[in-house]
Amino acid sequence: INNGGFTSVKRSFLFGWKLSEVKFEDVRVYLVERKMGRSRRSFLTQLGTSKGFIVEDVLSDKVTHVVSENSQAASLWKWLKECASMDLPNVHVLDISWFTDSMREGRPVAVETRHLIQDTEPTSAEGSTHTLMATVSQYACQRRTTTENNNKIFTDAFEVLAESYEFNEIEGRCLAFRRAASMLKSLPRAVRCLGEMQDLPCLGEHTKAVMEEILQCGCSFEVKKLLSDERYQTFKLFTSVFGVGPKTADKWHRRGLRSFSDILADRSIHLNRMQQSGFLHYGDISRAVSKAEARSLRNIIDGAARAITPAAILALTGGFSRGKEFGHDVDFIVTTPELGREESLLPEVIDGLKKQGILLYCDYHASTFDVAKLPIRRFEAMDHFAKCFLILRLEGSRVEGGLNSAEGDGRGWRAVRVDLVSPPMDHYAFALLGWTGSRFERDLRRFAGAKRGMLLDNHALYDKTKNEFLAAETEKDIFAHLGLEYIEPWQRNA
Ligand code: UTP
Ligand code: MN
Repeated sequence: INNGGFTSVKRSFLFGWKLSEVKFEDVRVYLVERKMGRSRRSFLTQLGTSKGFIVEDVLSDKVTHVVSENSQAASLWKWLKECASMDLPNVHVLDISWFTDSMREGRPVAVETRHLIQDTEPTSAEGSTHTLMATVSQYACQRRTTTENNNKIFTDAFEVLAESYEFNEIEGRCLAFRRAASMLKSLPRAVRCLGEMQDLPCLGEHTKAVMEEILQCGCSFEVKKLLSDERYQTFKLFTSVFGVGPKTADKWHRRGLRSFSDILADRSIHLNRMQQSGFLHYGDISRAVSKAEARSLRNIIDGAARAITPAAILALTGGFSRGKEFGHDVDFIVTTPELGREESLLPEVIDGLKKQGILLYCDYHASTFDVAKLPIRRFEAMDHFAKCFLILRLEGSRVEGGLNSAEGDGRGWRAVRVDLVSPPMDHYAFALLGWTGSRFERDLRRFAGAKRGMLLDNHALYDKTKNEFLAAETEKDIFAHLGLEYIEPWQRNA
């Protein structure tokens, strides 16, 4: 019909239409689905098309006649104004009567007052909502992102696609979908039409096509296909085990293994210690950790650290410091103001946890941090501070309101993943900022490099043009060095 490739193909795919000849080039109709309903809309679309009308799938700036049935004028207009690229003064907003009259006549009838759905509240000059989205930055560190996601329908789909690219080690596309999802999470409301996507950053052809399909059909066929894809499902299952990444999942998959019992029955497979614990505590650690559980763990770690030195500093970081209700683990920074003392602090804390009988697994990494080797110019997934990845036994009696256990679990305890990191105090702010996590922190590094000629990581901030390190005591200091407005941790859920 009128739109190129993607849309036309899908149309004929969906409805098996015979493509009719266009008779009225200047009239482009858009049928509003709300109140009208999907099946009536597709019936009317088919009818209009068969009469030589162009019926647009998407509300874009090409549309000349917007047709609605059973809509309240106020709510229809509110919705229309939120669709960014519409040139509303030049569009006819019409009742279904105009459409049925035109169908009867076999041509677009002249617009009369009785056809019009009039705007009850004319837009004030600056009050239109579509400007809300006009100034979104491509960098997450210049956006505020709370845990409230108004675009979950799109970001859930993008996450499946990103994961699938990750499993296949197609990093560029994986990143593109993750960045697009992150941008959408920052928006104050849902994207409602194609026109609104035009001014948004981080959206490419593929991401837009997926969104367009979701807007029209309620879901993406590409995502649906992946979700029922055997390879995707197997990778998803295998990588849900602590200590199993895409490489191991691929190895197992290529051996023909498809389930946990396949893996555990295969004598030729060697599981490392991490993976063994991953399987041993699978049920517990694949279950979300609650805020109350995180608070209880904080008390436990705090007690253990203070028993070693009363000056110990403990800070919650990671997802819970961003205000998340649930997490996959709990992340803490444990250190002390006494420089150098932090190196031995962590092993002592671990020892304390062991003596309490609650240490189920411990993977300790001694510090390899060396100021003389800074700045680190290549990207590294892990920082050089002393750290440990733990599995702890958490007693239900220590959790306010009880454990987040499965129904019928009568053990009275559960296993939980806990990460501890121990930076020297003069690098504390950088570690805290880095470990707070999400795409926010990745975009901070990208922003520092691309926009400021600086190198930022979990250890330090280095100004390449001045050839010097920029010290910071707090996260606010780092934002100030970068010339960025300070953004609170709970606004960093990018
Ligand atoms: P998480 O994977 O724990 O994510 O990493 P999260 O945001 O807390 O979300 P949950 O746990 O899934 O709810 C937290 C931060 O710790 C950093 C990660 O880069 C991330 O920013 N981290 C983790 C490191 O910097 N180094 C490590 O070795 C491990
Ligand atoms: Mn975490």
